[in-house]
Amino acid sequence: MIGRPLPTIEFADEASLAWGELRLVAGSSNLELARLISEETGVPLTDPRVRRFPDGEIDVKIQDSMRGHDVFVIQPTCHPVNDSLMELFILLDALRRASARRITAVIPYFGYARKERKSQPREPISAKLMANFITLAGADRVLLMDLHADAIEGFFDVPTDHLTAQKILAAYIRERQLANCSVVAPDAGVAKRAEHMARLLNAPLVFVYKRRPEPEDDESVEILDMAGDVESRDCVVLEDIISTGGTVVEVARALKDHGARHVIIACTHPVLAPGAVERLREAPVDEVVVTNSIPVPPEKRGPPITVLSVAPLLAEAIVRVHENRSVSELFR
Ligand code: R5P
Repeated sequence: MIGRPLPTIEFADEASLAWGELRLVAGSSNLELARLISEETGVPLTDPRVRRFPDGEIDVKIQDSMRGHDVFVIQPTCHPVNDSLMELFILLDALRRASARRITAVIPYFGYARKERKSQPREPISAKLMANFITLAGADRVLLMDLHADAIEGFFDVPTDHLTAQKILAAYIRERQLANCSVVAPDAGVAKRAEHMARLLNAPLVFVYKRRPEPEDDESVEILDMAGDVESRDCVVLEDIISTGGTVVEVARALKDHGARHVIIACTHPVLAPGAVERLREAPVDEVVVTNSIPVPPEKRGPPITVLSVAPLLAEAIVRVHENRSVSELFR
């Protein structure tokens, strides 16, 4: 086991043993987040000793006994997405074969989520395929956060808990004491979430009508229209993912053209594909607030990017799942 941190969360006594002892296994996709969750819970990280064979195949060897325990594997399936997924499948298989009593895959960022439906004939539904593989590999439960589409929860044939980082983002924005804030939904897919954020910030909503004129070009974004109060307002653009940055940069430009005073982007998953940070630095954007669901390396941090931690939320949810306590209570 790696370290033995001091917990900040208190455990209920007997309930915590219903599924065996709580164990945290850190995959390699976001070790920093796993360490922070370990600090919050006081549960040390189990080292899965992930290594690669010379031909690139992944191997793991879990370093502690998992027999009869309630195991949480922390592995957002972020860049490099295919490696992160394959490592998760192999970790789940190893844990199942090691007789873990229950295995929860903690996937704060779920790669392939944007391929959750067919938009053209003869396309795959990759998000469903990944969900199938995760349960097939051995996950008894899945812990997710701000999925690109809520319906993806139903792709898993095991219990899921779907968390949101909205309260964390909203609390940070509230601290900024914006005088006259509007919440902006950059496309129809984000509308319901933006409505929730608007309630949290007690702000009116702005809807943007965005389209991708070249569906095969991931960077092509066109803003056709917007409805709502923008002039002289501090606009908070809500996003689930920033990948190329194309969407939020075009939305920010359109907002400034319509007279917005400040533009703040609030986004859960900083995918930040190559070129995105440079694009954001040059854009008419005052701040980009993201979470550490995906690691943000030091060279990508700093203005305009601020990174908030979702480790306390994930740690609390893990302990609640372990103790069979309500997770939805966290969001009431
Ligand atoms: C799209 O439906 C998503 O909500 C995001 O708007 C999109 O993934 C952002 O991608 P990009 O940063 O490449 O525009």
